[in-house]
Amino acid sequence: MCGIVGYLGTQRAAPLLLEGLGRLEHRGYDSAGVAVLAGTGIRVAKRAGRVRDLADGLPRRFAGKVGIGHTRWATHGPANDVNAHPHTDAKGLVAVVHNGIIDNAAALRDELADTGVDLASDTDTEVLAHLVAASEAETLEAKVAEALGRVEGTYGVAVLHVDFPDRLVVARNGSPLIIGVGDKEMHVASDLAALVRYTTTVAHLDDGEMATLTPTGFTTYRIGAGGIAATDRRAAPVDIDPEAYDAGEHASYMHKEIAEQPAAAERVLRGRLDERFGTSHLGGLNLDARELRAIRRVKILGCGSAYYVGQMGAMLVEELARVPADAEAASEFRYRNPIIEPDTLYVAVSQSGETVDTLLAVQEIRRKGGRVIGLVNVVGSAIAREVDGGIYLHAGPEVAVASTKALTNMFLGFAMLALQLGRVRDLSIADGRRLIAGLEALPRQIEEVLAGEERLEALARKLADAPSLFFVGRVRGFPVAREGAQKFKEISYRHAEAYQTSELKHGPLALISPDVPTVAIVPGDELVERNVGALHEIAARGGPLVVVTHEDVAMRGLECDRVVVPRSERELDPILLTVPLQLLAYHAALHLGHDIDKPRNLAKSVTVE
Ligand code: F6R
Repeated sequence: MCGIVGYLGTQRAAPLLLEGLGRLEHRGYDSAGVAVLAGTGIRVAKRAGRVRDLADGLPRRFAGKVGIGHTRWATHGPANDVNAHPHTDAKGLVAVVHNGIIDNAAALRDELADTGVDLASDTDTEVLAHLVAASEAETLEAKVAEALGRVEGTYGVAVLHVDFPDRLVVARNGSPLIIGVGDKEMHVASDLAALVRYTTTVAHLDDGEMATLTPTGFTTYRIGAGGIAATDRRAAPVDIDPEAYDAGEHASYMHKEIAEQPAAAERVLRGRLDERFGTSHLGGLNLDARELRAIRRVKILGCGSAYYVGQMGAMLVEELARVPADAEAASEFRYRNPIIEPDTLYVAVSQSGETVDTLLAVQEIRRKGGRVIGLVNVVGSAIAREVDGGIYLHAGPEVAVASTKALTNMFLGFAMLALQLGRVRDLSIADGRRLIAGLEALPRQIEEVLAGEERLEALARKLADAPSLFFVGRVRGFPVAREGAQKFKEISYRHAEAYQTSELKHGPLALISPDVPTVAIVPGDELVERNVGALHEIAARGGPLVVVTHEDVAMRGLECDRVVVPRSERELDPILLTVPLQLLAYHAALHLGHDIDKPRNLAKSVTVE
């Protein structure tokens, strides 16, 4: 959450900062601002609203070759011009942008107020600007380290100071910061997305590290109790195609990312399936066959959509490996003093690798001696670095707030994990090969689902006008329904509730009416008869139905709109049933005229608890 950029070099900073902020806007988009060193002072422009509003309102002469910028997701105080970053001290000597949460901000604000400091904003960040300005240390690095020494919480920060016009000082603790090395210029950002147009030679700061950037290079330090000590961090090239960060011909990133799923699915499977032994190879797990056999339980932790796909993953593990497995919201796990068992494999699942609830759950498990692996998309992210091993998802950058291709690859990651756990137990080689064939067919089958977009668009228009709707499914279909409802409400702002089809008659059937449509997940599996029966109960109460199903499922005269997906192996069906729900949500939101990639109140990468 929140995006940070910084620049020093030979060019005007402001246009580069604004371009970078535009690329980080998915991380927070309620306000934005920039500060540049101009002559002997700092100029700040900031306002509530989008980066384009900031750019439109920027004074023509906003010169300066050193600057910082920020796009905000409000935590302390409403989204208004004053609370927007950068924040300065009273004399305007220091400007700070910050991503994270300062837990002791209230105490620090009181302390500053007692010394006569007038705080202009409601934010936690502003205290940092005052603390840096008040420091009597000689260097900017020492001033920043002293200020950060007073702070409890998480931060990625970038600091400008009028007395040190040749440099930017940045620091990281819990919120990512990446330095980009250009030609006689340096960049810094909280995400590669803002750097790749300028450079692919980068250095990731570690927690507890700070860096000084000058136009010709950077130096890193570790912040410790006794001050700062130099570290030897070097920049290295990253293998990334800058175009992966553009929406290209697509009207939105979400549409692009939905369309990329067949290719992304191929990438996560590539080189990991072993037809000969009917198993998968997941070298990154750092677990040999004996250790895999010793696992007695699997516990999956994630948030939001990652939690729902974790439920699909738990079912895969139980079905293929016959090992008890369940998924839990990582945001809740830590607070019930969980029992950590030595023979449980804990699995943290996260696209960004930054979600703080999931990260804290991982830290809690490790603190108690548990073994955690990660299913993570962003290479080198905080969760990826914290776990004992894992599976990278190779979905490529996911920019839209609503997760699609990363989620599909999470499912495939779980399928491969379950296959490997199964094959060191009782899953037969024939079943292993059956699943491999099923996995290999999925990219093409996802393409088939995507080819049905026009029909899904028509159905989405109908659903979009309903103020409230149900998504229902059973067993394998229930997490699919949960994910479908999540995607729908997230971007269409319609109330969408997921239920087990079997539970409708125990209460929510009372809500069914011609105004409340139901999207039902009905694969042609062992539950099909019961599922179709329940749909008749909905139809009998006048509830409109969209049924996501397989070609050969007989609806027994049910009045409904059918969405047919190709059959996979039954264990793998959930992902093909999920993909059309992405397009339903997408087209409903488009029809309603919403900002697809930046839904209200949300942000990509939730780095606050
Ligand atoms: C939904 C969505 C969120 C994320 C959740 C976890 O479309 O994107 O629910 O799934 O915030 O994010 P990651 O996977 O980055 O940990």
